[in-house]
Amino acid sequence: MTTDLDAFWMPFTANRQFKKAPRLIARSAGMHYWDEQGRQILDAVSGLWCVNAGHNRPKIVQAIQAQAAELDFAPTFQMGHPKAFELAERLLQIAPQGMGKAFFTNSGSESVETALKMAIAYHRARGEGARTRLIGRERGYHGVNFGGISVGGIPGNRKMFGTLLAGVDHLRHTHDLQRNAFSVGQPEHGAELADDLERLVALHDASTIAAVIVEPMAGSTGVLIPPKGYLQRLRELCDKHGILLIFDEVITGFGRTGAPFGAHTFGVTPDLMTLAKGITNGCVPMGAVLCKREIHDAFMTGPEHLIEFFHGYTYSAHPLACAAGLATLETYADEGLLTRAGELQGYFAECVHALKAEPNVIDIRNIGLVAGIELAPRGADVGKRAYEVFTDCFAAGVLIRVTGDIIALSPPLIVQRQQIDQIVDTLRKALRKVA
Ligand SMILES: Cc1ncc(COP(=O)(O)O)c(C=O)c1O
Repeated sequence: MTTDLDAFWMPFTANRQFKKAPRLIARSAGMHYWDEQGRQILDAVSGLWCVNAGHNRPKIVQAIQAQAAELDFAPTFQMGHPKAFELAERLLQIAPQGMGKAFFTNSGSESVETALKMAIAYHRARGEGARTRLIGRERGYHGVNFGGISVGGIPGNRKMFGTLLAGVDHLRHTHDLQRNAFSVGQPEHGAELADDLERLVALHDASTIAAVIVEPMAGSTGVLIPPKGYLQRLRELCDKHGILLIFDEVITGFGRTGAPFGAHTFGVTPDLMTLAKGITNGCVPMGAVLCKREIHDAFMTGPEHLIEFFHGYTYSAHPLACAAGLATLETYADEGLLTRAGELQGYFAECVHALKAEPNVIDIRNIGLVAGIELAPRGADVGKRAYEVFTDCFAAGVLIRVTGDIIALSPPLIVQRQQIDQIVDTLRKALRKVA
């Protein structure tokens, strides 16, 4: 059967290019996809950084099927269903100590909007209503809604959309090829870049700033690992100035960096954290915001019959997502997946860093089971070289991801050593082929 590709306006896709040479996926299982012709493709990016336990895991599939038959939808506005409460509790059990409440959304973008609104409303509830300013970071990715692109720092995601949120400023990004190229694990240099927050505090005054939002490890911009001490310094400065620290853990959550969350890996606990993707192993859309109990408690004033936080989505804590989430957390626990990246990261790092001498490679960086391989752009054709590496790897049966001229690898946490070898060998051949 040939599929008519015309009607679907594809997200974050070069639509005309794709439709001339489509890549259609028909089936998945474990570490693999299969295309319509039955060709097997090794998934080196967990779908889109989300299928952390690998594809079509039986426990998750069964949970979704059973849930669809038992309770298809239940509102969570003034109503509830048991799995929503159960999943919230389970999430807090694996979250960094201090997280006290979970609020459900349907995506990373919605989690970001929710966290930003929570932060501003929290200050207001405590009588600090002037704290409305939000601080993001250059090169940050926080989804695609207006709050997220306002605090985000990826120019292409911002420039077409007119006036963004007022009262937003940005920290400098932490990418520093000169000092940190080819770092294994966290780079040595750059903790002082957190002091950029002092500059913004001096400019705006702390009394106007609600929150700082950063990805503990910036993923979508091309895998930027936080320099040693950077997040600690940011935490200290937020505390000093009464500013909430939000970690966007949409990518770093659920085992990617070697521990359940980036907060664990990097040893810094935020006040709020945004989750999505791996929360349901990518099987049903879901996101969440975890926050410290005192943030929630600040809202719990006034008459008890009144709604405390005017926010939520029709599908917050959707039964299918909750069932998928619970089965996902069980799968992670059964197989030790939330720490498996930590066990494999030595081998993974060794294999990936062995690409250092390949043509056009100007940096390789890694943490847990994620790596970024940065290529020199081909003159003014930014992104073309990496895109060719991507199509070449796909033709050779390995799915990687590229952003500009940076290749990202983030295989499912069930990956085997020989599959890491296959990913790196395929990449090596492609790098040699693509001039
Ligand atoms: C750090 C981060 N935040 C937010 C998002 C947005 O998530 P979604 O695409 O589910 O809206 C992403 C997606 O890649 C992300 O990496």
